[in-house]
Amino acid sequence: MSFAFPVEIACEGSAQVLVPRLEAFVETPSDYAPSKAPVFYNPVMEKNRDFAVLALQVFQNSVGRRLRACEPLTGCGIRGIRLAKEVRDVQQVVINDINNEAFQLAQFNVEKNLLKRIVCAENEDANLLLSRFGAPRKRFDYIDIDPFGSPMPYVDSALRALRSGGLIALTATDLAPLCGVHPKACIRKYGGKPLRTEYCHELAVRLLAGALARSAARYDNSIMMLFSYGSQHYIRLYATIHHGARKANSSLMNMGYIKHCFSCFHREASPGIFKVTVENCPECKGAMDFAGPLWIDKIVDEDFVALLEKEARMRDLRHMRNIRRQLSLTKQEAKAPFAYYVVDKICDKIGLPIPSKGDIIAELEKGGYIANSTYYSHHGIKTDASAKTVAKTIRELSK
Ligand SMILES: C[S@@+](CC[C@H](N)C(=O)[O-])C[C@H]1O[C@@H](n2cnc3c(N)ncnc32)[C@H](O)[C@@H]1O
Ligand SMILES: [Zn+2]
Repeated sequence: MSFAFPVEIACEGSAQVLVPRLEAFVETPSDYAPSKAPVFYNPVMEKNRDFAVLALQVFQNSVGRRLRACEPLTGCGIRGIRLAKEVRDVQQVVINDINNEAFQLAQFNVEKNLLKRIVCAENEDANLLLSRFGAPRKRFDYIDIDPFGSPMPYVDSALRALRSGGLIALTATDLAPLCGVHPKACIRKYGGKPLRTEYCHELAVRLLAGALARSAARYDNSIMMLFSYGSQHYIRLYATIHHGARKANSSLMNMGYIKHCFSCFHREASPGIFKVTVENCPECKGAMDFAGPLWIDKIVDEDFVALLEKEARMRDLRHMRNIRRQLSLTKQEAKAPFAYYVVDKICDKIGLPIPSKGDIIAELEKGGYIANSTYYSHHGIKTDASAKTVAKTIRELSK
């Protein structure tokens, strides 16, 4: 089969797929090749797809049945193809893209990988496709929404097409709204106010989880957060969805606000959707601002992350070191409190040189506090110590 644009073969995991030859679409150095090509393919998202494979395998191990999965925004098909090839006991994967050239390429890739009996490619709007599966006995075990920008336009139909106990994965690349650069867009898409803090990527995950919980609650569903992370260009979360009005009510109990003081870095969570009162900072009496409503409970499950680690050890992935480092950090911080302190920011504010992060963590631990590095920031520390204690520790270390 020939395509009307330059193509090449990409190998990822155990899949070999035809993708647009990205260099052919770069005209100026600032061009972002994946979005210039007629069909979307971004090699940088390989690790994101590796995690999808690992997460679905861990999920499959836990439910022990053959799975049906759907990737309604597939581009060249690589993600769905990898799920079919690399996850054991996958019965069916439905991949779909509204772009006809993407559909053609995805269909070609399905055949190239000898997956015609498992993977079915479609060419329609993602919401229309998902709506066709939103009925008993048609629903999927796993739905992976990996769109341009926000996943929210697809979340409702994905929730209707997911069986109770099913796994949903969401990618959001619209970090400007989620991190508070365009707050109105965030309020529109996610129903929560963002805040431009040093830990805005974690807030972004919490805003997305909160929006998912509220959408799920409309269908009497609860969410259980299993895994999430933020990178420079996107955030990603994995959650299971369970049917039941009571469970949905308790899920909503995990919503609330995070208040932040820009003068001394104090932060606190305030549970409940309906009231947010922003008093002055209890530490320095400065003015505080808030983010939310958002998800204030855990955003990763320690046991699930341990299982991801175990699954990763059994595989030969190109980004293995990076994946293992991420999982080990994520597991450490699973029990740590929300938000993190960024050492450079505090040192900047108090006008002191930056001590080693390891020394600060050791001092905090000596003082009986929880203190961990965080995957979200090289200079970040998650701790239950107050902002005042962290600043005092830094002062003492710099003496
Ligand atoms: C970020 S890309 C998907 C990348 C892919 N998931 C991967 O892992 O390589 C988003 C895709 O969504 C498709 N798309 C955009 N709007 C759509 C819609 N309403 N329905 C179906 N597909 C859509 C685009 O054509 C594009 O291929
Ligand atoms: Zn303060």
